[in-house]
Amino acid sequence: MGSARIAVIGTGYVGLTTGACLASLGHQVTCVDVDAAKVARLAVGQVDILEPGLEELVSRGLSTGRLSFVVGSRDAVADAEGVFLCVPTPMGAGGAADLRAVEAVIDEVADVLPAGCSVITKSTVPVGTAQRIRDLLGRTDIPVVANPEFLREGTAVSDFLNPDRIVVGADDQDAARWVADLYTDLSAPSVVTDAASAELVKYAANCFLAMKLSYVNAVAELCERLGADIASVTEGMGYDRRIGRSFLKPGPGWGGSCLPKDTHALVQVAESVGFDFSLLSAAIQENIAQRDRIVAKIAGAVGGTLAGARIGVLGLAFKAGTNDLRDSPALSVTAMLAAHGAEVTAYDPAVGGELPGMRVVDDPYQVAKAADAIVVLTEWDEFRKLDWAYIADIMHGDSVVDTRNLLDPTAIMDAGLCWLGLGRPRAG
Ligand code: UGA
Repeated sequence: MGSARIAVIGTGYVGLTTGACLASLGHQVTCVDVDAAKVARLAVGQVDILEPGLEELVSRGLSTGRLSFVVGSRDAVADAEGVFLCVPTPMGAGGAADLRAVEAVIDEVADVLPAGCSVITKSTVPVGTAQRIRDLLGRTDIPVVANPEFLREGTAVSDFLNPDRIVVGADDQDAARWVADLYTDLSAPSVVTDAASAELVKYAANCFLAMKLSYVNAVAELCERLGADIASVTEGMGYDRRIGRSFLKPGPGWGGSCLPKDTHALVQVAESVGFDFSLLSAAIQENIAQRDRIVAKIAGAVGGTLAGARIGVLGLAFKAGTNDLRDSPALSVTAMLAAHGAEVTAYDPAVGGELPGMRVVDDPYQVAKAADAIVVLTEWDEFRKLDWAYIADIMHGDSVVDTRNLLDPTAIMDAGLCWLGLGRPRAG
């Protein structure tokens, strides 16, 4: 396909990545947001989110004239051939996805969309949303297409440009093909299907990943009780190609803006059609239990009682490579520590400012000062390179609880400290 005229509504990490990447594929893209200040910053190439490669792509898009930013959807869609909806779909009442932002956009643009222009959902929307948008639009000349994204925060640009697959669904197969063709320059298999199936692919994939992690966290717990080592267990499992080696690292629980929201939403969707998705509900419960177990492990490391204990926390973001704190397991753990009366001092290379229940510092060694225990909650590479002998000198206690199995246990032990990982034998 040649260059298509595209409008992207919403400039969060999904919308901005989609807009900048589609422009880099040669399309003419107008990105829209309601936040005028943000649009003004983007129009001069300033990107607020930490996403490798995104700022460069935005600058390139601006300088080639293929990418522009505006406030107000009506003008942006007036001559578009395709409109991508990338507005937030947060968790609403009872766990169901809140579609008010999507509905507001449809309401705003319904009467100005040119005939034949495709409306494409990119953010994760519940099964049935394409149909709902068709009903809201009330126009038979506008195809509605589901084209879910599979972008991870922190690798969104590379995930977009090197996808495992492109999934496109619509009841109008010509429209689905047109959207699939926007990506022809990317070498990836495409699944072209009906709208409901495309919508469900996204949930089924994210929920599968969440279940995989809950399973691994439970196996890690079992390893501790049985004297086995999760590192060898997952290595042995991962060579089985049916299982695969990725997404097998135990941690303080899965978080972020997607997996928690999508697991709840799918349980809710299943319930709405009379199906009790107890397998998925159990994975959600396991994720809560994991945080409780981490807190119990930290309590054990400081002699059994957290009241008055000084805990130094390394890492607050929900995973390394992002400054995103949404549904971060680290925040749940620190909140529980504070609720038990611990004094929490925390450092994260990408997070600053004030946060409730803790003192946030801008130097990892400040976290260690007089700490009874140090707890690693996010897998930032720089934590591996800390001077652990110096930390041993300035700490009060001697335990390092490594909930990401990130550090080298021998290095910690050699510094005279005791390393406590997840599902692995303690060192020191
Ligand atoms: C997730 C999916 O991986 C993407 O494919 C999807 O497109 C995205 O949601 C979305 O729906 O938009 P993301 O939320 O950015 O991406 O984060 P992940 O990298 O998947 O990590 C999710 C959580 O699992 C994090 O808390 C992470 O620390 C944890 N995790 C991941 C582990 O504990 N162990 C692992 O081995 C992998």
